[in-house]
Amino acid sequence: MAITALLPNEAATRALGQALAAVLGPGDLLALVGPLGAGKTTLVQGLADALDLPPDVPVQSPTFTVCNEYPTRVPLLHVDLYRLDGLDEAEDIGLPERFTDGVTLAVVEWADRVPELIPQHALWLRLDHATGGRRVTLAEGGGADVSWALTMPGPGKGETWTETDDWTPWAC
Ligand SMILES: Nc1ncnc2c1ncn2[C@@H]1O[C@H](COP(=O)(O)OP(=O)(O)OP(=O)(O)O)[C@@H](O)[C@H]1O
Ligand SMILES: [Mg+2]
Repeated sequence: MAITALLPNEAATRALGQALAAVLGPGDLLALVGPLGAGKTTLVQGLADALDLPPDVPVQSPTFTVCNEYPTRVPLLHVDLYRLDGLDEAEDIGLPERFTDGVTLAVVEWADRVPELIPQHALWLRLDHATGGRRVTLAEGGGADVSWALTMPGPGKGETWTETDDWTPWAC
């Protein structure tokens, strides 16, 4: 199953990131998909905030550095695959080990660029530009149940989650 909702403003995207801190922990991976400017980094800012990132530490797309690590209460690794040159480069910098070390919570922007790098247990989240804000679609790798997410306080006031078939992240 996959579910979708409208996020009417930046605050709603941040709130969804904050809500995800309650369900993601050490060893988990959040795979983010979506075009330029869709709100991926905004979501990570909310997540990092809820994980007690010190306010003076910026959360920015690690587009050129590939990885940022944050001093959050769960070690948060923020990865951007936009400029990564395939699986070989990912292996050179040790990403597969970090994604399966059981300690790190990894969040990966542009996860669909190197899908073979993303472990089976990943939670996939897509953001798209939409009339009235951004559309979020959430699915677990392999099509597992995400009904727990229906209770998340992510969408803005008056917005609700609905089920959708329009999502096959593991086949990107
Ligand atoms: N739900 C929303 N409605 C409207 N604007 C939003 C929403 N969420 C985020 N934004 C805005 O979208 C812009 C781009 O956000 P952000 O940098 O997080 O995107 P991104 O997906 O990380 O982009 P990139 O692919 O370039 O890294 C920001 O100005 C942010 O405030
Ligand atoms: Mg970004």
